[in-house]
Amino acid sequence: MSCATARAHANIALVKYWGKRDRELNLPAAGSLSLTLAALTTTTEVEFDRALARDTLVLDGEPDTGGARDRVSEFLDLVRAAAGMDARARVVSGNDFPTASGLASSASAFAALALAATSAAELVLAPAALSVLARRGSGSAARSLFGGAVLMEPGTRGDGEDACARSIDDLSDWPLCMVIAIVGGGAKKRHSSRDAMDHCANTSPLYQGFLDAVPGDIWAARAAIAARDLGALGAVAEHSALAMHAAAMASRPPILYFQAPTLACMHAVHALRDGGTPGYFTMDAGPHVKVLTLAEHAPTIARALDQLDGVGPVFHSAIGGAAELTQCP
Ligand code: PMV
Repeated sequence: MSCATARAHANIALVKYWGKRDRELNLPAAGSLSLTLAALTTTTEVEFDRALARDTLVLDGEPDTGGARDRVSEFLDLVRAAAGMDARARVVSGNDFPTASGLASSASAFAALALAATSAAELVLAPAALSVLARRGSGSAARSLFGGAVLMEPGTRGDGEDACARSIDDLSDWPLCMVIAIVGGGAKKRHSSRDAMDHCANTSPLYQGFLDAVPGDIWAARAAIAARDLGALGAVAEHSALAMHAAAMASRPPILYFQAPTLACMHAVHALRDGGTPGYFTMDAGPHVKVLTLAEHAPTIARALDQLDGVGPVFHSAIGGAAELTQCP
């Protein structure tokens, strides 16, 4: 049967997605805006085979029979339903960055899986429909199908067919760069974003405040991108990340992703900025710190963060392109 391999990049949200309007369909409560990162890539091969009794998953070289395989299998059920087929699949997926580090692996993983699985099933989907499908695997995966700066629309329809992402700027003339500082030795995250955002929506008095700020943040981020204004874009990114984390921290019981080195990185970024090196931090559902800057300043920022206790490795990435099909081996 047919086989396909796809490659997708991770993305980092500058305006965060945090909370759903529908858990079953994985519909976001608000929009989000991200940058796709060239240096973080997932490559996934999918082969449907009628002889298989069930779906199998090999993740970073290790057979997986647990939660990851079940999530992949549930996702493949959507592809099978859309394609009108019932063959099980062999899925082999690998990241070129540490999977356990808590970096945004579900985004690139489900984007690559959506593209490879639909192609292997000979299902032809327009980009928006592919993004709708990827969203069912992970909200941020809807964004990883596209390159450059990517806008996720929350949509208004109950069936979620208008909740999808698109590239709004390829950024090819603006050398933005993301410095990524791993904190906590890359240990697995304590609260999955999926559970944490639900818990936050249900218990945090600050959740509504975060949501209310999103449309204005997206507007400001788009204006900053159009004007190629790093300072304005960075200010939105820091605000959105801190608003998300403030809402999470005010949940009962609290969700606290920051560790001491996370805060040390944040202060170092502000100190560098005071000294004339522009950088703006953002953090997701984990302790790591990502710093938005220009390529020329990335080595200075990476060096400064790498010197802090409990921080490392530190690397940096340019802006990446759209997910793409590659050859089947
Ligand atoms: O795609 P999910 O369900 O793992 O959620 C991603 C949530 C954040 O990374 C914290 C924010 C974002 O917009 O990527």
